[in-house]
Amino acid sequence: MKIIKAKDYEDMSRKAANIISAQVIIKPNAVLGLATGSTPIGVYEQLIKWYQKGDLDFAEVCTINLDEYRGLKHSDNQSYWYFMQEHFWRHININPENVHVPDGSNLDPVKACKEYDEIIKHSGGIDLQLLGIGDDGHIGFNEPGEAFELETHCVDLTYTTIKANARFFAREEDVPKQAYTMGIKSIMQAKKILMVANGAGKADIVRRAFYGPVTPEVPASILQMHPDFTLVLDEAAAAAL
Ligand code: F6R
Repeated sequence: MKIIKAKDYEDMSRKAANIISAQVIIKPNAVLGLATGSTPIGVYEQLIKWYQKGDLDFAEVCTINLDEYRGLKHSDNQSYWYFMQEHFWRHININPENVHVPDGSNLDPVKACKEYDEIIKHSGGIDLQLLGIGDDGHIGFNEPGEAFELETHCVDLTYTTIKANARFFAREEDVPKQAYTMGIKSIMQAKKILMVANGAGKADIVRRAFYGPVTPEVPASILQMHPDFTLVLDEAAAAAL
């Protein structure tokens, strides 16, 4: 596990974007595992800037997102597909056929998850997986207590997650109660994993996840076992280390 401390959010975003950018330069047809949430927005902004300067080319890149709310279509402005489109894809030269998010509009969880696992397999595997961390240690939508050996599956969101995500919706009642997520097994199969964390609110969970025991109660703690895991965090998130 490598820990890179950054001064602030901007510095964290630039350092993480540097790692992703190196991956794309070394392997132009890289498979990037991507995350939504507020933390990676600055990383996407930085990558867009480098693309606009002509330093990055996404023409052959393939992306595979971690998760999607069950019941939301791509066109729904609360869907993770929509989020990715707004914050990243529409600003770069990625081929629309190469971007993947679990199909939230498919209400059959078994089919939707199986199809997604096939997509991951056919991609040849994720070269670099970008992650954020939830206040309770979740990664993707793998909530505390979730088995480590799962691939894509449907989850019931915990109240903590519903409450945390309510900031993106008009009302808390509007937050979907279920999601499709890549499992811990799928995440751990990525060749490289890069996590970003910022702000004082993440300090305690970062300490528990990376300086505590590996346990399903703190899903992110399993990343301690990954052979190529890098955590980039700002001073506030590193305060309890
Ligand atoms: C998003 C995701 C989540 C977030 C986590 C942190 O695709 O998988 O695990 O990474 O909830 O969210 P933020 O960055 O908003 O604190």
